Amino acid sequence: MDLTLLTPTRILAGGGAVRRLPEVLKHLGCLRPLVVTDHFLSRSPLLGRLTAPLDAAGIRHSLYPDCISDPTTEEVRTGVEVMGAGDFDCLIAFGGGSPMDTAKAMNILYAGGGEMRDWKVPKSADLPVLPLVCVPTTAGTGAEVTKFCVITDAEGEVHEKMLIMGAACLPDAAIIDYELTLDLPARITADTGIDAITHALEAYVSVKANPYSDAMALAALGQLFPNIRTAVREPHNAAAREAMMLGATLAGLAFSNASVALVHGMSRPIGAFFHVPHGLSNAMLLPAVTAFSAEAAPVRYAAAARAMGCAGSGDDDAAAITCLIDGLAALNADLEVPTPRVWGIEETRFLGLVETMAAQALASGSPANNPKVPTAEEIAALYRRCFG
Ligand SMILES: [Fe+2]
Repeated sequence: MDLTLLTPTRILAGGGAVRRLPEVLKHLGCLRPLVVTDHFLSRSPLLGRLTAPLDAAGIRHSLYPDCISDPTTEEVRTGVEVMGAGDFDCLIAFGGGSPMDTAKAMNILYAGGGEMRDWKVPKSADLPVLPLVCVPTTAGTGAEVTKFCVITDAEGEVHEKMLIMGAACLPDAAIIDYELTLDLPARITADTGIDAITHALEAYVSVKANPYSDAMALAALGQLFPNIRTAVREPHNAAAREAMMLGATLAGLAFSNASVALVHGMSRPIGAFFHVPHGLSNAMLLPAVTAFSAEAAPVRYAAAARAMGCAGSGDDDAAAITCLIDGLAALNADLEVPTPRVWGIEETRFLGLVETMAAQALASGSPANNPKVPTAEEIAALYRRCFG
């Protein structure tokens, strides 16, 4: 085995952990943070949970509040200008995947210059950047512990969701405080939670899986799948919220070191063309892609089903895989995940873009990590099957 594992240096987890932010900055030797967040959070009382400890510690901070969902090269460029106009010695990303991805991309362009597309895979972004502390407010993306970010190319002819990968994307510290998620709406809890389940399952069946990522992925599935319905239905259930937050971070550690696979490869073009939230587009694809892939790694999919509680220890692999596919479909039904058709995507436009989306999915590299590597035609057929 030839393995390089990348994880943040410091991970703080627990209810109220955000109060320890000044301690984290002290360890990093940072005194002048730029807080990167979105419009909603910048006007939310939740921001005070982050800034009050900084104020109490006398740490002068500034705000970049212009992150949008599905961040584009435009927001990143504006953020880099803000960085250049200040005397910042670190970034704090506060929010869901979008502020964290924006902060990672800002850091890369600020230090390395050029255009965002210069840094997309297969290039590896390994340049030195300012310290980054991530404080997630959703339980899903795992971006607080991953070496990836996704930025939409706003200038290109096609609005491609570009995957950026490398040590420069890896946060130096992550603060995992489930209390920040207690007031999330049900839809966001569901979508981000299914995203995390997809991270763990794809990391576990990835051809790049390793004993380290396996342990993280199985532990994540055991936290996430049994708790997602409770977290959606009982938003203030602290035990379910904590399990989802820990599971999402474990899943992030798993896929950062084993990669994601076909679901994510196919999901990004749906997001880019139709602006379907990332977790939701994963959920639309997950049962069908699992059914397509399972024959190539039956032992792995069966083990995942048992870790999730979909199957019991007495079920053989074939029975466990059936339970897994049924369990994922039932979860989608319970969480009211729509098909692309029900979500409102026009059929002729979707079908007209299927070949382009299949080509983009393959070009992202993620399908090559799948236990069953699909052809472009097989990906196109999966898109058509999932349309509904
Ligand atoms: Fe994801």
